Amino acid sequence: MKLTLEKFSMDISRSSTEADCSRLSILPCFLRGFLENPLQVASFLPSSSYLQRKLSSLDCLQAAQVVIELGPGTGETTRALLNELPQQSILLCIEVVHEFVNQVQQITDSRLMVEMDSALNLREILTRYHFPSPEVIVSGVPFSVMSPEERHSLIKTIYNNLAPGGSFVTYQFRSSVCDLAVEYFGQPKHRSVVLWNLPPLEIIVWQKTAKP
Ligand SMILES: C[S@@+](CC[C@H](N)C(=O)[O-])C[C@H]1O[C@@H](n2cnc3c(N)ncnc32)[C@H](O)[C@@H]1O
Repeated sequence: MKLTLEKFSMDISRSSTEADCSRLSILPCFLRGFLENPLQVASFLPSSSYLQRKLSSLDCLQAAQVVIELGPGTGETTRALLNELPQQSILLCIEVVHEFVNQVQQITDSRLMVEMDSALNLREILTRYHFPSPEVIVSGVPFSVMSPEERHSLIKTIYNNLAPGGSFVTYQFRSSVCDLAVEYFGQPKHRSVVLWNLPPLEIIVWQKTAKP
């Protein structure tokens, strides 16, 4: 599998008008990505700006230095995360759809790295790049359309690779991830329903125990 890993120079001066234009311009790309990969993308619209703000304002992200985003899509959630993350942080995005990877790579920010691969290969990716254990893993990957084996494998690799005390954040239309994640993490630390999104979904946060 062809892998790409790129760093970009910083640009934190985007105005909200630029952000709105960007959102409009990525809609055809997102829709195309959905039509070509319906099972992976599972939604014909990117997350709403309201969801992006709710996600990026979570406490666990405010001081995080090493963050992974699984399934960034066209990069709108990525931009929201970068707006909140500290200047010294690093954000590694892992995405399977080639066209989406190209879009995320357009974001010019030196904290961002983009990898074209499956989230299921998280352990191998971290090992290959000597990446430190992430303090937060944010996932938009739709668990409900994965096979039970893949779902289980993804939760397990997320749990095993998170730093002790780290947080797993996901936003989902269905709660199928919950029963599985509880087996590893215990009860969620935070749950909130986001109605201002099409379709409405839930943000769920688990924290890994701080004990090694
Ligand atoms: C519901 S979309 C979310 C996109 C974006 N984060 C947003 O909120 O608008 C799910 C994303 O997960 C990606 N995805 C699905 N399976 C994946 C996998 N195994 N590894 C990495 N990304 C995956 C899809 O290609 C898509 O970009």
